Amino acid sequence: MQEARLLKHLTLAVMRGQVRASQDPHRPEWHLSPVIGLLNDPNGFIYHAGYYHLFYQWNPLDCRHGSKYWGHWRSTDLVHWEHQPVALVPSEEYESHGCYSGSAVIVGGRITLIYTGNVKYPDGSRTAFQCLAQENSQGEFDKLGPILPLPAGYTGHVRDPKVWRHDGQWYMVLGAQDRLMQGKVLLLRSDDLHQWHNLGEIAGSGLGGLGPFGYMWECPDLFTLSGQEVLLFCPQGLPAKAERCRNTFQAGYLLGKLDYMQAQFSHQDFHELDAGFEFYAPQTTLAADGRRLLFAWMGIPDEDELYKPTVAYGWIHTMTCPRELSLVNGKVIQQPARELQVLRREPCQWQGSATDAPALPISSAEIIVDITAPFVLELGGTLVLEWDGERITLSRRNLRTGLQESRYWRGNLQQLQLLCDRCSIEIFINQGEGVMTCSYFPSGQPHAIFKGNAELCLQHWLLSSPMLE
Ligand code: FRU
Repeated sequence: MQEARLLKHLTLAVMRGQVRASQDPHRPEWHLSPVIGLLNDPNGFIYHAGYYHLFYQWNPLDCRHGSKYWGHWRSTDLVHWEHQPVALVPSEEYESHGCYSGSAVIVGGRITLIYTGNVKYPDGSRTAFQCLAQENSQGEFDKLGPILPLPAGYTGHVRDPKVWRHDGQWYMVLGAQDRLMQGKVLLLRSDDLHQWHNLGEIAGSGLGGLGPFGYMWECPDLFTLSGQEVLLFCPQGLPAKAERCRNTFQAGYLLGKLDYMQAQFSHQDFHELDAGFEFYAPQTTLAADGRRLLFAWMGIPDEDELYKPTVAYGWIHTMTCPRELSLVNGKVIQQPARELQVLRREPCQWQGSATDAPALPISSAEIIVDITAPFVLELGGTLVLEWDGERITLSRRNLRTGLQESRYWRGNLQQLQLLCDRCSIEIFINQGEGVMTCSYFPSGQPHAIFKGNAELCLQHWLLSSPMLE
């Protein structure tokens, strides 16, 4: 009953809000975004029976965070997506304040979702249940209820299960906050997805040589890349450094070796995955051909969110583009998924001094620039990228404070690849050695304008707009 009632309200919100949302000039042409309301984390990303499935945290009723639903899209090629029935609605007591993030596995040829039922109490406290839901023959999801209550020794902040299969067993990593307010990742094992055995903490604040490392770790993901384990997670509460960790919350990784028997993860230092302004809650899956693919939320849960101009049109946030990961010299490299190249229209090429470069339209476009010397790049009169020979500085005006803010990448720049789509720019540095992801809200028809006397070699494509059906 409760589910039917929530679905009626959801339908009404879409009927009322859809026209206004679709009229927003900042609506992306080819990135995934919510029809109305707020989108945050990618969830349940999986490839199965010829389709990529991507679920997402969705508040269809508001541009603020609140009680989350799971929306669902699928695609055969990562470019053309179609809506699927809403997968999860927060209708039960064990998820009264949201069907929070989680993942998907395949059991008996069907998708099973593992997610967090979030429950808040009037006194401000909360608890969390890890829950299952199983795909039925209609492509809808039947809830099987909680399979794991709060483990002892942790606060109500235990969430975001990522589950995978290894050596005939199921494993889960969970983001957690312990009673001393330290962020942790727990590893659990199961034969059947229903009974779970907690193997303990495999990484966290104060563990593995990290020192104090945040009061909560969200959205863990653990997988193998070129024979090494990568633990992705989002630590909350890291202090900003001069050039790093400058966003309110971070998304990054630890590279190491997981001993499944001892439940020990020996790892190296923490690296941020992205050096831009908006990138959070990444989640990966394996493609049919063995590539490790990633989507992330192009947003950060911070006090700036509601200042985005899309809120006036009743929607907020997009996913990043799909990316493929590889490991090069002990670093995780991210590149746009090669499938995105089908979006490219006629190529244009140009070579010469930066000041003489033509202004390139970037409403929905891709640019590859080969670089030899310092230069400045203005993007839609809103973002400025400056390369001084040692570091990139990316600057913009903060929408809430009106003050200039900058992010940095340090290294030897040879090439930039920019993917621009109405309200976002993803900047891939040296074939993915670094990435700077950010939302931006230019007015009119934005252009990329190069300045300086560096010799540049440019490739430019306008991108087509695949229909989201
Ligand atoms: C990360 C996060 C998750 C949580 C979800 C709720 O952005 O806070 O930890 O499950 O969002 O929407």
